[in-house]
Amino acid sequence: MASPCTLSLSLSLSLIILLTFTINASSLTSEPDILLTFKSTIDDPMNHLSSWSNTTTTHHCNWTGVTCTTTISSLILQNLNLSGEISPSICQLSNLITLNLADNFFNQPIPLHLSQCSSLNTLNLSNNLIWGTIPDQISQFKSLKFLDLSKNHVEGKIPDGVGLLQNLQVLNLGNNLLSGSVPNVIGNFTELVVLDVSLNPFMQSEIPSDIGKLLKLEQILLQRSGFYGEIPTSIVELKGLTIVDFSQNNLTGVLPSRIGSSFKKLTTFDVSQNNLFGSFPNGICESTGLTSLSLHTNNFEGILTNSSVANCLNLERLELQNNGFHGDFPNNLWSLPKIKVIRAENNRFSGQIPDSVSVASQLEQVQIDNNSIISKIPHGLGLVRSLYRFSASLNGLYGELPPNFCDSPVMSIINFSHNYITGEIPELKECKKLVSLSLADNNFIGRIPKSLGDLPVLTYLDLSHNNLTGEIPLELENLKLALFNVSFNRLSGRVPSLLIAGLPALYIQGNPDLCGPGLSNSCPKDDLKPRTGVSKLACALISLALLAGILSLAFGFFVFRRSSIQNLETGIWRSVFFYPIRISEQDLIMAMDEKASRGSSGAFGRVYIVNLPSNELIAVKKMPNFRNQSFKTLKTEVKTLAKIRHKNIVRILGFCHSDDSIFLIYECMEKGSLGDLINKGDFQLSWSFRLKIAIGIAQGLAYLHKDYVPHLLHRDVKSKNVLLDMEFNPKLTDLALDRILGETAFQSSYDTNLGSLCYTAPELGYNKKATEQMDTYGFGVILLELVTGRAAEPMDSSEDSVDVVKWVRRKVNISNGPGQVLDPKLSSSCKQEALGMLEIALHCTSVMPEKRPSMSEVVAALQFLGSKTRVPSLDMSV
Ligand SMILES: *[C@@H]1O[C@H](CO)[C@@H](O)[C@H](O)[C@H]1NC(C)=O
Ligand SMILES: *[C@@H]1O[C@H](CO)[C@@H](O)[C@H](O)[C@H]1NC(C)=O
Ligand SMILES: *[C@@H]1O[C@H](CO)[C@@H](O)[C@H](O)[C@H]1NC(C)=O
Ligand SMILES: *[C@@H]1O[C@H](CO)[C@@H](O)[C@H](O)[C@H]1NC(C)=O
Ligand SMILES: *[C@@H]1O[C@H](CO)[C@@H](O)[C@H](O)[C@H]1NC(C)=O
Ligand SMILES: *[C@@H]1O[C@H](CO)[C@@H](O)[C@H](O)[C@H]1NC(C)=O
Ligand SMILES: *[C@@H]1O[C@H](CO)[C@@H](O)[C@H](O)[C@H]1NC(C)=O
Ligand SMILES: *[C@@H]1O[C@H](CO)[C@@H](O)[C@H](O)[C@H]1NC(C)=O
Ligand SMILES: *[C@@H]1O[C@H](CO)[C@@H](O)[C@H](O)[C@H]1NC(C)=O
Ligand SMILES: *[C@@H]1O[C@H](CO)[C@@H](O)[C@H](O)[C@H]1NC(C)=O
Repeated sequence: MASPCTLSLSLSLSLIILLTFTINASSLTSEPDILLTFKSTIDDPMNHLSSWSNTTTTHHCNWTGVTCTTTISSLILQNLNLSGEISPSICQLSNLITLNLADNFFNQPIPLHLSQCSSLNTLNLSNNLIWGTIPDQISQFKSLKFLDLSKNHVEGKIPDGVGLLQNLQVLNLGNNLLSGSVPNVIGNFTELVVLDVSLNPFMQSEIPSDIGKLLKLEQILLQRSGFYGEIPTSIVELKGLTIVDFSQNNLTGVLPSRIGSSFKKLTTFDVSQNNLFGSFPNGICESTGLTSLSLHTNNFEGILTNSSVANCLNLERLELQNNGFHGDFPNNLWSLPKIKVIRAENNRFSGQIPDSVSVASQLEQVQIDNNSIISKIPHGLGLVRSLYRFSASLNGLYGELPPNFCDSPVMSIINFSHNYITGEIPELKECKKLVSLSLADNNFIGRIPKSLGDLPVLTYLDLSHNNLTGEIPLELENLKLALFNVSFNRLSGRVPSLLIAGLPALYIQGNPDLCGPGLSNSCPKDDLKPRTGVSKLACALISLALLAGILSLAFGFFVFRRSSIQNLETGIWRSVFFYPIRISEQDLIMAMDEKASRGSSGAFGRVYIVNLPSNELIAVKKMPNFRNQSFKTLKTEVKTLAKIRHKNIVRILGFCHSDDSIFLIYECMEKGSLGDLINKGDFQLSWSFRLKIAIGIAQGLAYLHKDYVPHLLHRDVKSKNVLLDMEFNPKLTDLALDRILGETAFQSSYDTNLGSLCYTAPELGYNKKATEQMDTYGFGVILLELVTGRAAEPMDSSEDSVDVVKWVRRKVNISNGPGQVLDPKLSSSCKQEALGMLEIALHCTSVMPEKRPSMSEVVAALQFLGSKTRVPSLDMSV
């Protein structure tokens, strides 16, 4: 009697025989037939493989994606919307070297059977829907040199078996769901050139200590992957490294000391956002290739020495801001031949700005605010013709401003505020591009230079807290200032009236001898121009503006107000208003303080409620500007959204943007968000309002998905993004922000927002492509909130602290009736309708995307509920 063991042995033996047989048989099959067999298991909705056919006369070497040498050597079927099954039959092509199926929709485990392809050296499955673990048998792919499994849904540990893939030159496992630690077999990859394990958030691993054996390694990418512990010192053996990215992990300890002298070819070295500390290694810049050194926002402390930067001859960007560096800022850095950007703000650097800065002929931007630099401002600085930003506030700068300090023809931002500079402000002759000049809180004396009035784009002028005397020059009336601050000086005489009219922000207090409108002193010969005169003028201006607004409304749909270029904090502001909103960016920003802010900052920024001078309220959403869209694109995208006219979608009134921020201006809704209402804990809305809200949201989404052109996805459906007016009509907000931020920035913002995870459809983990079904899922969660009265996310950590989806699924599964999940506050007369809504909600939150109804189906179903007929029973399966 055969034991089960022998039985299975003989089974696998016969399997092997069978396999061998198929492979042998293969040589009998023609190449076109092999391709057709391969095609037969593949879904090709766009018919990209139409040339693959036994009826055409085209030679199979000319079929889409096929390359032959004498026989077929490579199949490149990238980005063709393919799905289905990757058939092992392809291995009958005995000379197949490259198989690239990247950027498709293959939804299956890693196709191990491809290890039968005896010549295969490149396998690229990047950006598919590959799932499951990496089996130990991956070791069977002995011939592979390039393995790319990035951007899939591969999970589990990296098995020791990979250690046998000793020919690998590229191993890319980035952007998956791997966990555990990197096995200690890395040392076997002696041919490896690129190692990418980045973006695997569930990894918990040290950087393997035998990393130093990979002598051919050029790129090591481990960012955002849960690496902890120290950077192994053996890394200094890797002399060929060009790109090192360890950012956003949990690395600790000090940087290996010989790091600088080893990496001669380095171009990028990023260890930002870890917990590294200690002193800065000597010789960081001895590598001749380094062009960018970014160490910002760590907890680095320590000293940078001249010798550590001795050879940074190619260095273009140096970013050390927001760390704890101390000691003298190395003199050499100021005069590197290629340096463009020096950022070292918010450290404790001391030292001086040397006159030799004049040699840095490429220097564009310097930010050294908030350090302890005690220095005169050298004449050499004015000789750098490429400089457009110099900001050195909050230091110990002293002495006089050299007369050429603003001679760079491109200079636009100067900030010397909060220093100890003395003497007079020199006349500014050259810097016609100057937008912002801040000399506040120094010891300047003398007069405000008249030549400031000749700077055509100067918009932000802060000379406050000095010892300036004399009159405010009439020439300043030429300027279109957004901010004028001369408070707390010793100025005298009349304030030029045109300067004040229409100025968004004016600060002139603390000058006892100034006179004129708006001040307690009226000027000696100030004939009949009391305060009211000014407000009349202002009113006249405003109604003019209003008239102009209405006129342009009549002529075209959009009112564009390309605002005067204004500079606030960090840049130029541009605005486009679709409605006449009379507020300057400056006032807007001033109004957006803590008091005005509503709710916590979500994934995409905070919302502020701002009261316009006209007493209307607007809502302003402030988002970071990731700058991956041009202004033109941005404008087009916002316009696309602003043109939406639907009663369930919040209107966009305009937007402003600078280099750093984007403000989206929305109409303001009185009752706030549905989410806030539910989260308050005593959600009391009656059934008819709940149903009305549900139908409204569904109509809004259906409109976006099907009726509006271009079709849009909301992409962040949650109750916090449903606003209510006085009558509880719902309006969707924050929709399609991906179009405004750009896809990448949207994704990364979304990914870092763990706050509202429960609205996220489960497939988002592996399918990065947004779909209508994902919106439907989020909507289903809102329905669950409406029907249960529970907030989507658990509010405390009691035993019931699961999100509403899990809570409902559990209760519905274990109980004998779904009735008990209904909000007890609902009257029993509407129980039947509530159960109907629950069913719809369960369908919408179905785990399988294809089981979810479309939004127009949902609208119909909800309206049907509302018509009070008995609800037909739907299938309750989730
Ligand atoms: C072409 O292929 C189809 C199916 O793949 C097959 O049924 C047919 O017999 C083939 N025709 C020829 C001429 O080989
Ligand atoms: C492929 O097509 C090109 C022209 O389209 C032709 O010149 C060439 O001979 C074809 N190759 C084969 C192997 O049929
Ligand atoms: C893939 O499919 C989408 C829609 O399903 C389509 O927009 C896109 O153009 C297709 N891509 C290719 C390369 O066919
Ligand atoms: C795999 O394909 C992707 C998408 O085209 C590409 O970016 C990547 O470099 C390829 N990987 C390898 C190892 O060639
Ligand atoms: C490394 O390669 C050798 C063969 O050279 C092999 O015997 C060994 O098992 C490999 N190590 C690991 C950990 O896979
Ligand atoms: C980083 O490590 C510290 C100390 O080991 C730990 O407390 C912290 O949770 C870790 N952070 C992350 C993001 O893993
Ligand atoms: C750097 O070298 C310069 C001379 O080239 C010297 O004046 C300066 O003190 C040195 N600074 C540091 C921090 O060593
Ligand atoms: C200045 O830098 C220190 C850290 O060195 C930081 O704590 C402080 O908040 C900064 N001050 C300002 C005004 O940014
Ligand atoms: C301003 O200058 C006057 C003399 O010009 C001097 O007496 C006074 O102390 C200065 N005030 C400050 C605050 O520096
Ligand atoms: C100038 O620097 C001060 C202090 O760092 C800062 O508060 C101010 O906003 C800066 N001004 C501009 C226009 O950037």
